[in-house]
Amino acid sequence: MIEGNGPLYGEVRASGAKNAALPILCAALLTDDTLTIRNLPQLWDVDTTRRLLTQMGVAVNLAGPGAVEVNAASISTCVAPYELVKTMRASILVLGPLLAKRGEAQVSLPGGCAIGARPVDLHLSGLEAMGAEIELDGGFINARAGRLRGAHIVFDTVTVTGTENLLMAAVLAEGQTILDNAAREPEVVDLANCLVAMGATIEGAGTSTIRVQGVSRLHGAVHSVIPDRIETGTFLIAGAITRGQVRVTHTDPAMLEAVLVKLQQAGAGVETGGDWIEVDMRHRRPRAVDIHTTPHPGFPTDMQAQFMALDCVAEGVGTIRETIFENRFMHAQELMRLGAQIAIEGNTAIINGVERLDGAPVMATDLRASAALVLAALSADGITRVDRVYHIDRGYEHIEEKLRGLGALIRRVTG
Ligand code: EPZ
Repeated sequence: MIEGNGPLYGEVRASGAKNAALPILCAALLTDDTLTIRNLPQLWDVDTTRRLLTQMGVAVNLAGPGAVEVNAASISTCVAPYELVKTMRASILVLGPLLAKRGEAQVSLPGGCAIGARPVDLHLSGLEAMGAEIELDGGFINARAGRLRGAHIVFDTVTVTGTENLLMAAVLAEGQTILDNAAREPEVVDLANCLVAMGATIEGAGTSTIRVQGVSRLHGAVHSVIPDRIETGTFLIAGAITRGQVRVTHTDPAMLEAVLVKLQQAGAGVETGGDWIEVDMRHRRPRAVDIHTTPHPGFPTDMQAQFMALDCVAEGVGTIRETIFENRFMHAQELMRLGAQIAIEGNTAIINGVERLDGAPVMATDLRASAALVLAALSADGITRVDRVYHIDRGYEHIEEKLRGLGALIRRVTG
């Protein structure tokens, strides 16, 4: 339940990045030594990954707040079951490391999801190019391999987890692997840095061409996960949409350049330091901005819904073009329940900003859509009830505490 309560003010700390934590947890499958991971966010998806690993026989032990020690020396099975994969598609990230280290994997094929078909064909074709034998049977990906061989792989489409899966497969493969048209997201770089700390030989992470020289084994390491740039951007918009002033600390401005440019275009004052970003809206109504999503370093699709919420109350008409996923506008219908004026034409949304939204019951459909509904509710007059907030808990750590710390009237109700 959220009641619009005027401008938000204050400071909030970013948590570790969900989309770096998930592949890095899976990287522990690549060694018999212990991988210690720090700055882990307390999220539903991190817990699902922990359960996915422990049901394989991986030891995952708490090592202080936000830290775990993971050891996969004596895993008993290489299976990622349907009941876990259906709740989190990123479970596919065990496929590459299991094939590289154990030579086998049975991973339930991730179904579709709310935002799109999201096939994994590029993961599978890349692994086959490295010598894996893969067959789909009964909803499972059944994969086997002797020692994987390095290959030159060119991705048809930029894929974040596809790049991560093949990067993890390549570090123990025979010879050199080249990943062309690779994803450049900071989370890919963070995974690569962790793998290098474990003894891998990787060049070019963060560029479109990554070169890996396979080694015979990896050893343990201690790695701290980078801050969550999407959580950071979400809180910056919470400040902008309520016309307040919010500083996010323990983050990294360099990961969000495209988003900061758009916030400035929307009329926000943006200041940055080494590990903080501050948005100051100075009580002014935001101006409408045009967005189109692209792979990093362009504007991130995971910030699209949040910016649609901002455009809903902005001055002027904003257009948003979603080029990554084919169905990532489900939040538009819910925002219209709050009084937003949005027209959808194919993969483009045209938003005619209104002065004020009015609270109403709405329903979350996916992780970032639910964040957009919370943001809109913070700026709306009256009370908004957001249902199905389990979507939010997948990717935002203690979101109501963090928002309350900024002056929001928000509480979790059961039932
Ligand atoms: C990652 O998903 C993120 N998840 C997503 O974040 C994010 O939205 C997405 O990258 C894009 O940035 C994690 O990192 C765990 P893709 P991923 O493979 O890897 C097509 C969130 O909110 N494609 O980069 O699944 C695909 O259909 C989540 O935290 C193929 O066609 O996305 C899509 O159109 C949501 N074949 C495009 O590529 C493939 O084999 C980009 O998808 C793989 C992908």
